[in-house]
Amino acid sequence: MLKPIILKIGGSVVTDKSKPFSARKRIVKRISGEVATAIRSGCPPLVIVHGGGSFGHPIAQKHGIHKGFREKTQLIGFVETVQVMRRLSDIIAESLQASGVPALPLQPSAITLQKGGRIATMFSRSVEEALKMGLIPVLWGDAVLDEEKGFSILSGDQIVSHLSALLSPSRVVFGTDVDGIYPSDPKKGEAKPFRELTRAELEKITIQSGESGGIDVTGGMKGKLQEIIAITSMGVEVIVMNAMKAGNVLRALSGGKVGTLVKP
Ligand code: IPE
Repeated sequence: MLKPIILKIGGSVVTDKSKPFSARKRIVKRISGEVATAIRSGCPPLVIVHGGGSFGHPIAQKHGIHKGFREKTQLIGFVETVQVMRRLSDIIAESLQASGVPALPLQPSAITLQKGGRIATMFSRSVEEALKMGLIPVLWGDAVLDEEKGFSILSGDQIVSHLSALLSPSRVVFGTDVDGIYPSDPKKGEAKPFRELTRAELEKITIQSGESGGIDVTGGMKGKLQEIIAITSMGVEVIVMNAMKAGNVLRALSGGKVGTLVKP
């Protein structure tokens, strides 16, 4: 089997982070079409991971799910977080399927146990077998059981880095709402994104980076950059690009140049 590509679509792409439970259905539909085109033109096997955006983050925040179990009243918040993420993943999987992509939703909280907020075990053989069948596994950031904290949040980015270690993908693509990795916050200044970075350069930037906009229970931009460092240290190249712009997802999946390329 060809080495797969892992595509993470950020929560800030598929939802409007400023409004609770607002899926960006038009954008999801457009991205689904680009994925379908990429597959038709023979792109490698694909795993899709999406974020929580305005579905997962506010509920998780409200009930302190990311802080672990403290009191029984949180339990309903834990299951609600799982539930809203299922709703968002349904929207995305159904859109992909409507475009002819055989998207198979694999609920992370059903196949994963964490320990202290990091994956302890994940039944990832479902992902591997699905890929062999020509299916497109779809996973997402989720609230999961945690053998140390009771429960915790598993970010989509951590899923990507976990699966990268298992599948050694040819490329990992992060679709975000900015054009790439910037020397400073792109929403505050006029800086241009880097075209290419080495892992060592990224490590320097990560130390200086701050949090991302809106409510975020998974470490914001800094958390993302740390996962990217982990992925590149496995020898995998990473692309960070703007998935809000038409054509970028297709370009990134077809091996084209877009956004920032982080070299291992
Ligand atoms: C968050 O996943 C999942 C929950 C809050 C339940 P991510 O951390 O991958 O989501 P985004 O991409 O930042 O929205």
